[in-house]
Amino acid sequence: MKIAVLPGDGIGTEIVAEAIKVLKVLDLPFEMETALVGGAAYEAHGHPLPESTLKLAQASDAVLFGAVGDWKYDTLDRPLRPEQAILGLRKNMGLFANFRPAICYPQLVDASSLKPELVAGLDILIIRELTGDIYFGQPRGRRVATDGHFPGAEEAFDTMRYSRPEIERIAHVAFQAAMKRDKRVTSVDKANVLETFQFWKDIVTEIGLQYPEVTLDHMYVDNAAMQLVRAPKRFDVVVTGNMFGDILSDAAAMLTGSIGMLPSASLNSKNQGLYEPSHGSAPDIAGKGIANPLATILSAAMMLRFSLNQAAAADRIEAAVSKVLDSGLRTTDIWSEGTTRVGTTAMGDAVVAALAK
Ligand code: IPM
Ligand code: MG
Repeated sequence: MKIAVLPGDGIGTEIVAEAIKVLKVLDLPFEMETALVGGAAYEAHGHPLPESTLKLAQASDAVLFGAVGDWKYDTLDRPLRPEQAILGLRKNMGLFANFRPAICYPQLVDASSLKPELVAGLDILIIRELTGDIYFGQPRGRRVATDGHFPGAEEAFDTMRYSRPEIERIAHVAFQAAMKRDKRVTSVDKANVLETFQFWKDIVTEIGLQYPEVTLDHMYVDNAAMQLVRAPKRFDVVVTGNMFGDILSDAAAMLTGSIGMLPSASLNSKNQGLYEPSHGSAPDIAGKGIANPLATILSAAMMLRFSLNQAAAADRIEAAVSKVLDSGLRTTDIWSEGTTRVGTTAMGDAVVAALAK
């Protein structure tokens, strides 16, 4: 079982270190190799996704990813920005299916910004298409480019596009996931305005006919954003495109109390996967030792389950996290009156200790 470890930037290195600690106590035959990615790789090699890092990722069964990005790179030409590393990994590895579960842990009901009765028991699975849409449209740029930074440009554009096979395969992923859950799929689109998403809606409807046990409904993305904060428990599986999925998954994450709790998996058709917390590199708290490592630890659990065929070990990690929450330990992002505030390392240590029990 070969794991490429790509900690990246900001809090990425701190949280990945805790996940590695947890993986190591499982005593499974992992081969782990670490490489630079994002701003860290740009500093060392002049590129956010060096060839060697991509090769390592492609040759591994799974990638454990931290986070990339820092404001200090905002003025770089786009192809050199840290974010291009994660986009390049997704595209080059064909990681089209992004699973972003939003589960409200009963211990954290009070950490949510919504009323407890709205979020208690919440268990939504957002399935975001990850290698198409406006993120990877062609062409893109600004008109009247006179140099790398386009001063004097009068217009900028990105094109939104989806192909039939791209929509079909993500629809199948969503219906199959729903079959293992509450058998409900909500497809989120903007078919009232965008041709791309009328196409999306038509094809999802077509694929849905192959899953008669699953109830399919369609929702415009603006309404979906509203329903997520009005009555989030009405959702089971939400399937949507790359851009809408990016936005809705952040909103859904916050319902659970903290984006610091949410893992994610990005899979290709060979079940090779990239596992990363749903949050970013948080440069504002980097190096302070206060980041919540649980999203990354839970991502490692998803990695064991989806790409490494170690479901029992995944269950053990998830149970350990739950035990730690029961014991009242909280990082700053999930802290509330009456609980004990701990830092990144202490939280990782607590999960390790809970695993040993
Ligand atoms: C995410 C992030 C990325 C995205 C960025 C870092 C490119 O926001 O994974 O949700 O937009 O997909
Ligand atoms: Mg995002």
